[in-house]
Amino acid sequence: MIGDLAREQAAELLAWYAEMGVDIALNDEPQDRFAESATVEVAARQVSGAPDTAPPLAASPSPRGERALPGIHEPAPSVVIPATVTRSQDEALTDARALARTAKSLEDLRALLESYDGVALRKTATRLVFADGNPQAKLMFVGEAPGRDEDREGVPFVGRAGQLLDRMLAAIGLDRTGAYIANVVPWRPPGNRTPTPPEVALCLPFIQRQIELVDPDVIVLLGGSAASALTGAKDGILRLRGRWLDYDTGTRTIKALATLHPAYLLRTPSQKKLAWRDFRALKAELSKH
Ligand code: URA
Repeated sequence: MIGDLAREQAAELLAWYAEMGVDIALNDEPQDRFAESATVEVAARQVSGAPDTAPPLAASPSPRGERALPGIHEPAPSVVIPATVTRSQDEALTDARALARTAKSLEDLRALLESYDGVALRKTATRLVFADGNPQAKLMFVGEAPGRDEDREGVPFVGRAGQLLDRMLAAIGLDRTGAYIANVVPWRPPGNRTPTPPEVALCLPFIQRQIELVDPDVIVLLGGSAASALTGAKDGILRLRGRWLDYDTGTRTIKALATLHPAYLLRTPSQKKLAWRDFRALKAELSKH
């Protein structure tokens, strides 16, 4: 017996947790993070005088063991700092922006992220997942955040979704030597949950600097989360996909194509035809550069 559970029941329970994406234990004792963040929000509202209707900051675990992709069934998360942001988060954002600007090269940026502890995700992730592919490429892909396989290997898009991305690249005559690949959030959220808006907001200055340093001619935004974080677009991905958006680095505007995330395509193969349309448009655009 394990506690009150027979061995088989305990094994079933563990299998169910794994299925639900709960695959790491952080503490011996459970901690109610939802209650904690509710307390922080109430305190912040009292300071700011904001109404009690502000959106929750906590994200829920994905029921599929892969990160749920916002913007498909739900509105994409806004990276506008919520009214409930605490002063320390505000300061953390200012610090993150200042820090990201100090990186003069991709190596600098990676080193700086390796030691940056402003985002709590870094403590629960196994390692930083910085980038893969060719930093000289004119094409850059940006996803949402690493999953379990990426967290293990330290390389973006190496799991099933990544393998599909490789096949999609091959279909237009490319491989990872012709593209640079990164994520908005470079650490795996525990249990593959969706990164929260404050986590995305804190990581944003770093991916923005990464894009500036790579300086691609074309960006592909994989999924609604990356598209809304980097362009501020409010529509869900099914409306956004196939559209060429402007990504403004501050010194240059880069053409950015929003498309369906490969993890979504794995779950909804009937939508692959839409992604194929987007990749054909991508190929046509690349031929101009
Ligand atoms: N999904 C992402 O958004 N990024 C990865 O690196 C892997 C899966």
